[in-house]
Amino acid sequence: MNLTNLFFFFLSFMLISIGLSIGQTCYGTGNFTANSTYGRNRDLILSSLASINATGGFYNATIGQDSDKVYALALCRGDYSSAEECSNCVNVTSHLIMTLCPNQKEAYLWGRLPCFVRYSNRSFYGVLELNPNERLYNTGDIRSNLTEFNQIWENLMDGLVRKASRLKFATGEANLTYFQRIYALMQCTPDLSQTDCDVCLRQYVVEYQNCCRGKQGGVVQGPNCNSRWDLYPFYTSTATPDAPPPSLLPDAPPPSTLPPPTTSTITKDNGGGINSRTVVIIVVSIIMFLVLVSLAYVFLSKRKAKQDTRSKQGRNCVDEIHFEESLRFNFSTIKAATDDFRDDNKLGQGGFGAVYKGRFPNGQDIAVKRLSTNSGQGDLEFKNEVLLMAKLHHRNLVRLLGFCLEGNERLLIYEFVLNSSLDNFIFDPIKRGLLDWETRYRIIGGIARGILYLHEDSRLRIIHRDLKSSNVLLDLDMNPKISDFGMARLFEMDQTQGDTSRIVGTFGYMAPEYIKYGQFSIKSDVFSFGVLVLEIICGKKNSCFIYEHVTVNLLTYAWKNWKDGTALNVIDPALRVGSTSEILRCIHIGLLCVQENVVSRPTMASAVLMLCSSSVSLRVPSKPAFFMHSTTEPSNSEVTGSDQSERRSVQFSVNEVSITELEPR
Ligand SMILES: *[C@@H]1O[C@H](CO)[C@@H](O)[C@H](O)[C@H]1NC(C)=O
Ligand SMILES: *[C@@H]1O[C@H](CO)[C@@H](O)[C@H](O)[C@H]1NC(C)=O
Ligand SMILES: *[C@@H]1O[C@H](CO)[C@@H](O)[C@H](O)[C@H]1NC(C)=O
Ligand SMILES: *[C@@H]1O[C@H](CO)[C@@H](O)[C@H](O)[C@H]1NC(C)=O
Ligand SMILES: *[C@@H]1O[C@H](CO)[C@@H](O)[C@H](O)[C@H]1NC(C)=O
Ligand SMILES: *[C@@H]1O[C@H](CO)[C@@H](O)[C@H](O)[C@H]1NC(C)=O
Ligand SMILES: *[C@@H]1O[C@H](CO)[C@@H](O)[C@H](O)[C@H]1NC(C)=O
Ligand SMILES: *[C@@H]1O[C@H](CO)[C@@H](O)[C@H](O)[C@H]1NC(C)=O
Repeated sequence: MNLTNLFFFFLSFMLISIGLSIGQTCYGTGNFTANSTYGRNRDLILSSLASINATGGFYNATIGQDSDKVYALALCRGDYSSAEECSNCVNVTSHLIMTLCPNQKEAYLWGRLPCFVRYSNRSFYGVLELNPNERLYNTGDIRSNLTEFNQIWENLMDGLVRKASRLKFATGEANLTYFQRIYALMQCTPDLSQTDCDVCLRQYVVEYQNCCRGKQGGVVQGPNCNSRWDLYPFYTSTATPDAPPPSLLPDAPPPSTLPPPTTSTITKDNGGGINSRTVVIIVVSIIMFLVLVSLAYVFLSKRKAKQDTRSKQGRNCVDEIHFEESLRFNFSTIKAATDDFRDDNKLGQGGFGAVYKGRFPNGQDIAVKRLSTNSGQGDLEFKNEVLLMAKLHHRNLVRLLGFCLEGNERLLIYEFVLNSSLDNFIFDPIKRGLLDWETRYRIIGGIARGILYLHEDSRLRIIHRDLKSSNVLLDLDMNPKISDFGMARLFEMDQTQGDTSRIVGTFGYMAPEYIKYGQFSIKSDVFSFGVLVLEIICGKKNSCFIYEHVTVNLLTYAWKNWKDGTALNVIDPALRVGSTSEILRCIHIGLLCVQENVVSRPTMASAVLMLCSSSVSLRVPSKPAFFMHSTTEPSNSEVTGSDQSERRSVQFSVNEVSITELEPR
């Protein structure tokens, strides 16, 4: 096995292990044997597919004779930017399909990179095939009025099917609310006739509606066409330059209730009709009448508003009960969904308990957190906290779907996020290659917005207190979702700024004042965010590593290089392409967030602003808070500038403590 094969083997292994976020189908129609002519032909044609001349991103080739003949086709998504990009994509995808379908006679693959490859032992050129197809959807639900949503969605899809069947590729957008849009993309292989393309896309729209109606985006794709939609622009659209940039803008505020429309507008006419007395009388009486009507209207509507709020309060109470009921699950339901908490359904073990994967009978995937029971909190308090947390909705937070409270069992049920957590990517020598700078930048922005929402925009002020790379999950499109927020609330009552004798957090991410004095505030989350940003850029954990023959931590390392003007050194070597100025700016922001002095750290709101706008000028960071790892030789500590008292106060020896009791003073 040569190096390339090895790479693709790992890549495919990884893609399979992260839950197959690509659409791959190896047909069950027949296998070939390893050394057969057919197999060699297939490998040959797929390896060379990318180098043949393509017209408009479309590759079509055959090789071999009779029963050993292989037909192959590849296609780039219509918004590809250059022939080179397209050819690279086809190259990667066709190597991938060889590893994913090692001995199948037929297969197709819609890659994660935007292109499609298909091969077979029979001619499929110009033949419409709808099956086998597959459906993927985002786990989040549409929150707004579904009737209204479906109307808009169907209109968009209908228009797009017409357009795409003519052009074989089309994208379209529709306004959902003033702030939110639906983005959709459709494509057929160019060998299809207009009618066939129309049939294919229409069929997939129907299939989407049957499987995934009410979800926040999804895709149906098969051997001949592909239809995808989402709530954010996932393609490069040239048609709408006015669309907001996808990544770093803060989430739009919820639509404010508009003032009621003004009821009567009286336009005055200064024209010369005054000489007639009757006209004057008529005008005056009309005005009087209108004034009276308006007064009556204002009076009545005020009274009505009062009644409304009263009846609303009544309804709210009922709603609240409904809300609680809709969130409460029976233990038996969850037990069934997780196969009685079987070990191979276990996704991980955190400080608060184990997390299991589960699936409801309707096919919905969930993640279940089984809390360790010693939280020292009453049932009622627990329930109230959960209800509050379930009201937090943000794109960059993992949704809490419900809870279960029976006997000693306390379970939290979350939406299942498809890819694994961020640490599995950035610290992995192979997977980190999947995260290019654009993706990492988007992840940083998403995390920032999620925290900002927790700090400022949600109804509660929530301090996360355990922000770290393993608490950031990535969805199908590598959008970050923060998990485990509000856990500190479930285990403690006090969530305002204060002192605590109980440290919740992870060494390496905790702010110095929190470790030393147990003081936490929104600024301690900002510190953890800063550590995360530096980790994402450097691809290194904020634990000790050897640099220039001494042990340092990431913050020291980044700061030292920043100060010496060699900040480029700290960038993850896997980030070969990317805007250097953007990366440097992010390092700068990261350093500002990890300042020792609480007051010098920015708030999350200003951090988001700094990330969004390159015109905001940044303060010069000073020395960040340094921590030495107490298990390493103390003799190395002088290099870092950390003072002795700091080091003495840090009592941790492991990297991954999640809850630690600290003696109250
Ligand atoms: C083809 O090979 C796959 C494994 O690669 C196997 O699961 C499948 O049963 C085989 N199909 C036939 C028809 O032999
Ligand atoms: C393709 O391979 C399958 C399975 O070996 C076989 O049944 C079928 O006849 C082949 N088709 C052609 C056109 O050779
Ligand atoms: C494959 O074919 C080559 C020669 O064509 C032969 O040397 C090799 O032993 C064969 N391998 C298998 C597994 O049949
Ligand atoms: C395809 O990728 C391989 C290895 O990544 C490379 O050696 C080869 O030149 C590429 N082919 C084309 C046509 O880009
Ligand atoms: C492929 O394209 C190149 C450059 O555009 C051209 O010189 C060459 O003749 C083409 N080959 C074929 C087989 O069309
Ligand atoms: C693609 O290949 C098929 C045969 O498999 C052939 O009939 C067709 O003309 C080819 N199309 C193009 C555009 O080369
Ligand atoms: C949803 O919107 C439709 C159409 O605008 C309206 O008739 C319906 O009452 C709305 N439903 C809710 C629950 O607001
Ligand atoms: C959608 O909304 C944007 C502003 O939110 C507006 O500029 C645009 O014209 C709207 N498009 C349509 C088709 O209504």
